[in-house]
Amino acid sequence: MMDIEIQENKQKYLDYCHQYILRKGIDELLDYLENKTDFFTAPSSTKFHLNTPGGLCKHCLNVFETAMKINEHILLPKQNAGESIFPEPLKVESIAIAALFHDLCKCGLYKQTEKWKKDENNRWVSYIGYEVNDEFPFGHGEKSCYVINFFLKLTREELLAIRWHMGMYDIGESGSSNRFTFYSACDKSPLVVLLQLADMSSSHWFEETTVM
Ligand SMILES: [Fe+2]
Ligand SMILES: [Fe+2]
Repeated sequence: MMDIEIQENKQKYLDYCHQYILRKGIDELLDYLENKTDFFTAPSSTKFHLNTPGGLCKHCLNVFETAMKINEHILLPKQNAGESIFPEPLKVESIAIAALFHDLCKCGLYKQTEKWKKDENNRWVSYIGYEVNDEFPFGHGEKSCYVINFFLKLTREELLAIRWHMGMYDIGESGSSNRFTFYSACDKSPLVVLLQLADMSSSHWFEETTVM
């Protein structure tokens, strides 16, 4: 991603945060992201969606915008018509917090490293790619919750949504009790599934992988 685009995304991200999040601690959290982490320049993955500088911030913007649209066009009309299991509309602030901060666990996670590939003449050439270096392996959603909550007090539904945002991917082989906990979380608040939908659709519908 070009520098200009990274700067535009950063401004858009900060504008969304200021527009939609008024909770105590938001300024401290944003100051932390800007000055103590690589959030605005980090990639979103090593070799999948938006594996490019600035990819993480762009991904969070995509997830937020997608979550807002799903809420506005699908969930809210059903709630207004009395046709949802969850009659209470979600707070926009909660959608913003969950979506814009769900992947803070990725700050400082991806390190640039020299990698090798074959060029069109079948010769080995080196390039700069990313590898994972997790200095606090606390779990994906779990770490995001921990980092956010350090600055800004999350509600229970925000905690559940962020903790379980990887959906079934986070369950894998870890057993039926974890699966039960995941399903129970989905039944506690519509925010839990909303974040999964927005995360999954953004990464697979809108976010390219840079093939090195
Ligand atoms: Fe994630
Ligand atoms: Fe994500």
